[in-house]
Amino acid sequence: MGRCNIAIDGPAGAGKSSVAKMLAQRLGYLHIDTGALYRALTLLVLRKGVDPTDEAATAKLSQEAQIRMVSSYGGVKVLLKEEDVTDAIREPVVSENVSLVAQHPRVREHLLSLQRQLASNGGVVMDGRDIGTVVLPDAGLKIFLTASAEERARRRMKELRNQGHKVTYKDILLSIRARDNLDAERLVAPLRAATDAIPLDTTGKDIDTVVEEILGYLSAVGGFDGCSTNL
Ligand code: DC
Repeated sequence: MGRCNIAIDGPAGAGKSSVAKMLAQRLGYLHIDTGALYRALTLLVLRKGVDPTDEAATAKLSQEAQIRMVSSYGGVKVLLKEEDVTDAIREPVVSENVSLVAQHPRVREHLLSLQRQLASNGGVVMDGRDIGTVVLPDAGLKIFLTASAEERARRRMKELRNQGHKVTYKDILLSIRARDNLDAERLVAPLRAATDAIPLDTTGKDIDTVVEEILGYLSAVGGFDGCSTNL
C-alpha cells in the first residue's frame, strides 16, 4: 500500500489552501495548490497581453508555459519558467481574470495531466475545485470545504489588507460571488462536490479545528496506514 492522496475542493475563500497546507505538514505530505497553476497561467496571459476569454490563445500559452511547483523551506514555490511568481499570482488583477482562463476546456486538459503527474507517487494533499471529481477521482479521502460567502469575503479582505492592498469588503464579496458563479456554472469540470466527498463547513472554525476533523476522517478510512485505492 502506498501513501494516500487527499483531495480538498471548495469555493474561493473556504480555507482550502491553509487547511491543505497544514494537513500536508502534519502528515509529511506534499501540498499542491492547483489554483496556483491556473493563476500562474493567468499571470502569463496578462503579461503577454492575451485576451483571457480567447480559448485558442490561452490554450496555446498553457502548452508553452513552463509552470513548476517546487518544495521550499516554509512551503511550495510557484515558478513560471524559472521566475518565482508565488506572490505575483495573488495580485487582485490575477484573481479577477483567473476564472475566465480556467473555464476553457483545452486549458483544463493541459493542466490536468500536470496535476495528475504531480500526484502520481501518492502522499499529496491537493486542493482545487475539481480534484475529487476529475483530477483524482480515486483519492483516498475527499473533503468538500464550504463557508458562507460573507465569511469568505472577510477572510480574503484580511489576507489582502495584510499584503498592503486597499480593498473594501463590498468589492470582495461581489468578486467572490461572481467567481462562485463562474466556477460553478462553467461547462467543463464545474465546482461540485464529488458524491463520495465529505462536506465540511468551516464557518466560525479555525484552521486547527478543521485539520483535526480531517485527520479524524483519514483515520476512519484507514488512511494513516496508507491507501490501496488510489495508487
Ligand atoms: O483557489 P484559487 O482562488 O487560487 O483558484 C483560482 C481559480 O482557479 C478559481 O477561480 C478557479 C480556478 N481553479 C479551477 O478551475 N480548478 C482548480 N482545480 C483550481 C482552481
